[in-house]
Amino acid sequence: MEDRKNRTIYGRRQARPLKETQKHLLENFLHTIKIHPGKIPETFPGDVIFEIGFGSGENLIHQAQISPKALCIGCEPFMNGVAALISKIMELNIENIAVYDDDAKFLLEALPYQVISKAFILFPDPWPKKRHHKRRVVNLENLLLLHSKMKKDAELIIATDHPGYLDWILEISSRENFIKHFKITHTHEMPRPSEAEIPVTRYEKKALENRPGAFLKFKVI
Ligand SMILES: C[S@@+](CC[C@H](N)C(=O)[O-])C[C@H]1O[C@@H](n2cnc3c(N)ncnc32)[C@H](O)[C@@H]1O
Repeated sequence: MEDRKNRTIYGRRQARPLKETQKHLLENFLHTIKIHPGKIPETFPGDVIFEIGFGSGENLIHQAQISPKALCIGCEPFMNGVAALISKIMELNIENIAVYDDDAKFLLEALPYQVISKAFILFPDPWPKKRHHKRRVVNLENLLLLHSKMKKDAELIIATDHPGYLDWILEISSRENFIKHFKITHTHEMPRPSEAEIPVTRYEKKALENRPGAFLKFKVI
């Protein structure tokens, strides 16, 4: 893995040693679906759906299945998750997923402007300690970068089960510079979007034992 300057991922790249089957998938198949920041096409023929931190890939797989003409790009530096996604892609014979196995910011910076039609950040790591808040992937800088790569009227969906992170998102989304770029269309007080729209991810399932997730939707102005 290349050592990049300004890396802003803080979570684990591996939760436990990779099994032989996972190593095999990463060594032999990741390159077939990997998208490289240095080799991005200038245009995309169909819609682009973008997910930051896909975990084990449940939502990315679902989006690829319900939007077969879209290209679903997922970013995830956690290699056990990337291996789990590859395994599902092969099992289900899915052809419209591309993966970036590193910090989403590097790929976003390389994407052309106004190509993304839908973006997901589902259950980002909460980093509850105050001194770690700067590690949160949802921050104004990242959201404005994401915005510049999204089409007009494109949708951004953010979910969290962490009350402190919800307050954090609400605070950011009340800032003048955010309001100029995004309009809220679904608040945390509204019911969860249907599972046909957004499946329950592994993380959400775990979180549900303690507290329900809050889903927010924003539209690009
Ligand atoms: C709590 S998990 C949630 C995973 C998944 N969205 C779900 O709902 O099951 C958050 C994920 O975000 C990933 N992540 C953290 N920082 C990231 C970054 N800068 N770019 C891409 N993914 C990131 C982590 O590796 C982790 O897998």
